[in-house]
Amino acid sequence: KSLKPYNTFSIDVDADYFVEILSEQDLKDVLGSDLIKQQNLLVLGGGSNVLFTKDFVGLVVKVSIPGISNVVEGDEVIVTAGAGVIWNDLVKYCVQNGFAGIENLSLIPGTVGASPIQNIGAYGVELKDVFKSCTAYEIATSEKRVFNFEDCHFGYRDSVFKNELKGQYIITSVSFKLSTSAKINTQYGAIQDELKNKGIDAPTIEDVSNVVSEIRVAKLPDPSTIGNAGSFFKNPVITKDEFETVKLAHPNVVNYPAPDNKIKLAAGWLIEQCGFKGVVAGHTGTWKNQALVLVNHGGATGAEVYSFSEQIINDVDAKFGVKLEREVNIL
Ligand code: FAD
Ligand code: EPU
Repeated sequence: KSLKPYNTFSIDVDADYFVEILSEQDLKDVLGSDLIKQQNLLVLGGGSNVLFTKDFVGLVVKVSIPGISNVVEGDEVIVTAGAGVIWNDLVKYCVQNGFAGIENLSLIPGTVGASPIQNIGAYGVELKDVFKSCTAYEIATSEKRVFNFEDCHFGYRDSVFKNELKGQYIITSVSFKLSTSAKINTQYGAIQDELKNKGIDAPTIEDVSNVVSEIRVAKLPDPSTIGNAGSFFKNPVITKDEFETVKLAHPNVVNYPAPDNKIKLAAGWLIEQCGFKGVVAGHTGTWKNQALVLVNHGGATGAEVYSFSEQIINDVDAKFGVKLEREVNIL
């Protein structure tokens, strides 16, 4: 089966087997079936954070479990969503109901089930700020397990599901701790600027959602017209000493404070400085408004995108002595 419609990079590869699950029961059936034995298994949500570099030998399980529910208790509301719910549909549901906490994460592509995997984040908020728990099935044993906040070891674009437990669990639902009394988060400069432009002094969560959506549309390519997976690399986090070295040679290096006394650099800036913004390289390239986003101009293979990403890593390393790490999952 062609996976082209199932990855936002629009890479044309095949999978031996493909199954879509719509319920926990479907998942239990798949995990208990012969199809699973000795099969390589890949879980897919919206396919918006993967790059296929070759055909997938094995079984792809696409998680499409629906459903959103909520329980309000005083100022707090626990919202639970099926892993297959489209992330932005959940954001809209919360904004419409006045449940505050994920409006800064408006318009991030993909599914609820994938949101804890890399601890999605944008515009001053990360999933971990609102995460309560998730339920998941262990592939090897079919056992159901609840992961609480402490179990997930969330970090910047990171969690236990990308490390110790990589490829071992299928998330079926996620619960979020939100608030019915809006605590607006506008610490991110771009949001403040945009609210000011619009003359909004006392923003609602709907205002924040709208402003974030507008900023994103202006900056990021729409996967329905141009294949991409968002930021291809993580923003590098380096020590103060390493930073001083970079800064000596490049005094205007874009940087932000990070936890543990470290410094986060803007990978998009590093890449742009190497002459890569809006570059077309064969069928691939970098986005004209955001050098951190690699794109498929049509007909690119995953191998072509991957080798272009190698070139970027090498050039950034040569110029700045900083090693970029890929954010996108390479398959
Ligand atoms: P997929 O790409 O299908 O899967 C991603 C990984 O999670 C894979 O390893 C997969 O095996 C695993 N996985 C998926 N579902 C499950 C499940 N139910 N159980 C277990 N494992 C699972 N990300 C951000 O953090 N912030 C952004 O601002 C942002 N902007 C983006 C903008 C664009 C235009 C695009 C295309 C992507 C952007 N991303 C961003 C990346 C992407 O949206 C997120 O990583 C998202 O969470 C991926 O969801 P998905 O369902 O498409 O996951
Ligand atoms: N910059 C450049 N040139 C570029 C791109 C960026 O100079 O081509 C510099 C600018 O100084 C800009 C700064 O980098 O002000 C930051 O850029 P931007 O606000 O676009 O954010 P980012 O750091 O590039 C990160 C996330 C995005 C997230 C935004 C908003 C990572 C890897 N990326 O991008 O997440 O939406 O912040 O919070 O952390 C994703 O993960 O796929 C993703 C899109």
